[in-house]
Amino acid sequence: MAPRKLAAGNWKMNGDLASLTEIDQLCKAHPEPGCDMLICPPALLVYPMVASAQTHALMVGGQDCHAKESGAHTGDISAAQLRDAGADYVILGHSERRADHGETNADVAAKAAAAHQAGLIAIICVGETEAQRDAGETLSVIGDQIAGSLPERSDSANTVIAYEPVWAIGTGRTPTNEQIAEVHGFIRRQLDGRTGDAVNLRLLYGGSVKPVNAAEIFAIPNVDGALVGGASLKAADFGGIVAALEAAG
Ligand code: PGA
Repeated sequence: MAPRKLAAGNWKMNGDLASLTEIDQLCKAHPEPGCDMLICPPALLVYPMVASAQTHALMVGGQDCHAKESGAHTGDISAAQLRDAGADYVILGHSERRADHGETNADVAAKAAAAHQAGLIAIICVGETEAQRDAGETLSVIGDQIAGSLPERSDSANTVIAYEPVWAIGTGRTPTNEQIAEVHGFIRRQLDGRTGDAVNLRLLYGGSVKPVNAAEIFAIPNVDGALVGGASLKAADFGGIVAALEAAG
């Protein structure tokens, strides 16, 4: 059976305790969503969000974790700590982390292995910059990121991949449907050699997904959901994307 599609929200460094009212509204509007519904808030909000979503179908995730289980790593958070706070998922290797913190594919793979070990599902992000696309390097960049960022024993139960072109994040620009289809098809084929159940591993598209373009994006082959930044902050916007994913079936 094909896995449930996934609408994942990434709040980045936005939101506070008062923003949890958005979660109440989202949960009330989608009490039994026809897809998996996930919000990844800043780490400080993981536990209160889990508490406020308790009787609902909303899942909560982190935006990063350390590769080590515990120890002298000031300011960092382990996968086990996220799990302890009630998280089910963690986003890893987002382009903002790769750019702001110099995270390499090897770093991402080590973090994903730690996430798997702790029982978290890793959402591993890949995507080309505009310069790489213009140079015709998109597929080779994505191929290298997939080859280097997935740890051993990655499978459809513990891993999700998000294709997020860097130039589409927060810009209001999106690739054409053909460009998304090309990259998602390529990722599916890359996974084929690596995981026995590549066909079931969820591939999300991310980068300027909004309620107005969601239905069109979800109709593209090999798109199993979305990773949503700006439009995940408001219940009404994210709810519109959830509704489009439910309708896509
Ligand atoms: P955006 O961000 O939806 O605001 O473009 C997507 C992301 O960075 O995950």
